[in-house]
Amino acid sequence: MTWSVTAPSNIALIKYMGKKEPLRNEPINPSLSYTLPHLHTTVTLTCIQGPHDTCDLQTSTTPLSSKAKTRFLDHLAWLKTHFQSTQSFHVYSHNNFPHGAGLASSASSFAALTQCATRALSDITGHALPSVETQATWSRQGSGSSCRSFFEPWARWDEHGVEKLALPYPSLHHQTLLLQPEEKKISSSMAHHYVQTSPHYQGRSERAKARCHALIQALSSTSWRTAYEICWEEFQDMHTLFHTSCPSFTYFTQDTLQTLEQLKTIWHVHGDGPIITMDAGPNIHLLYRPDQHAFMKDIQSLLGHHHVL
Ligand code: PMV
Repeated sequence: MTWSVTAPSNIALIKYMGKKEPLRNEPINPSLSYTLPHLHTTVTLTCIQGPHDTCDLQTSTTPLSSKAKTRFLDHLAWLKTHFQSTQSFHVYSHNNFPHGAGLASSASSFAALTQCATRALSDITGHALPSVETQATWSRQGSGSSCRSFFEPWARWDEHGVEKLALPYPSLHHQTLLLQPEEKKISSSMAHHYVQTSPHYQGRSERAKARCHALIQALSSTSWRTAYEICWEEFQDMHTLFHTSCPSFTYFTQDTLQTLEQLKTIWHVHGDGPIITMDAGPNIHLLYRPDQHAFMKDIQSLLGHHHVL
């Protein structure tokens, strides 16, 4: 008995950073994301004999740490309690991109695990398959950002839950400038914790909420430039929290700063460019409109040596 599910990652333009209720992954502010089907995780579950689940987690480059395995298996155990099932599984999970480099790998892996386990457990116990909304809420328990991967292309997550948003730009082109593919030293879980010590944490929830509202308006009225400006402010706001927390930390490298400057110059010269954002990592995410295809190639050659995902 084997089940397999592939789920996409997503990139937040308004960030989930800071938790109101850490044990339940309740965010202090709404977040808005674009789903990334080309960066995905496939989870396969196979029924096994014996009392324990086992796990084999692979990225495009390396197997994952035992800490990541424990987090994954804990989530599976928690899902099993909803079905009162004692069935043991072997979990095989594979990302088609590097893990822990600020590419939101926990979003796609927990979304895939939740969907796969929910299907398997529904089949085994004869329970009806829960709704997508319920599955997304369960997934949020494992990794907050994963709940947005259940809806595409645009998803908003706030205190009322997560939903698909009907916005223009259904087929943006996404690029990651992979400036440093290695696993980051400060995980996003640690970042959520540390940011509370920053003096800028005060008012963060209101700032993010106001930007979320403004970004939805800008996208709805196809004001690309305004959307770019809001997204720029937003990732800078999140990184300022990192730079001013106690202890302070940074994901920016010299290369990150230089590339951001180059991208700003492109916008200045052309009056147009991609939406730019960064997650909790040194890599830069770019979103292009379909009509910017030729421009995207020019930008790529201008930026030179960066590996693009
Ligand atoms: O879901 P987590 O706990 O890995 O947090 C994700 C945090 C960011 O990726 C930095 C922002 C976001 O909204 O995805």
